[in-house]
Amino acid sequence: MPKFSIIAIDGPAASGKSTLAFRLAAALGFLYFDTGLMYRAITWVAINRKLNVLDEIGVSRLAENVQIEVLPPSLSDGRPCDVVVEGRDITWEIRNPDVEANVSIVSAYPGVRRALTQQQRRIGLHGHVVMVGRDIGTVVLPEADLKIYLDASAAVRAQRRFSELIGRGMKVKYSEVLEKVIERDRIDTNRDIAPLIPAKDAVIIDSDNLDADKVFEKIFDLCND
Ligand code: DC
Repeated sequence: MPKFSIIAIDGPAASGKSTLAFRLAAALGFLYFDTGLMYRAITWVAINRKLNVLDEIGVSRLAENVQIEVLPPSLSDGRPCDVVVEGRDITWEIRNPDVEANVSIVSAYPGVRRALTQQQRRIGLHGHVVMVGRDIGTVVLPEADLKIYLDASAAVRAQRRFSELIGRGMKVKYSEVLEKVIERDRIDTNRDIAPLIPAKDAVIIDSDNLDADKVFEKIFDLCND
């Protein structure tokens, strides 16, 4: 029987936190909720509607009005859930390089963060949830029972992201993926609102020399000790 009900997992891009959170939620019978996909979905809608992502007011208004549906997976193609906006399945499109290149800009807007944080908090407070993102332990759910900050070096994270994109048939260069990881870290860490930092009471785990199984075991043990 897990002793926690609200578990927050934060960390930089491609640190392996989504995979870990998904596995942990399945093992505990909790809801898995990836907040990054909400920022990605808003970015995708902005690009799709040919809105300038530098138009802060326009993009913030979008975040207040667009309904993002996160549903159980309808296909067995590796997706942890379906992401649907206005009836269109955008689960994989939100992983594309154009979204990747713009999501840090969109997620730095206070209006966007306010709109999405409110929804995330409402979902999280029901409990029995593993919520993953950048600011879950610090801003979205500071009352979380367990806070994990999963870290790894930029080189290791870029290698993971590179393999994932190649696996999906995309033509990318490692050096470019690394550059983008570093740039996203810079924006995520330096923004004024909800920057990427570990909560004071977070358990910090460096996964450079730990494989996904070891990280999972470590955290699963923490939940059941
Ligand atoms: O975890 P991810 O790579 O899917 O996140 C996509 C972007 O969203 C990333 O640039 C940081 C941002 N994000 C955020 O600012 N706050 C969150 N809680 C989750 C993601």
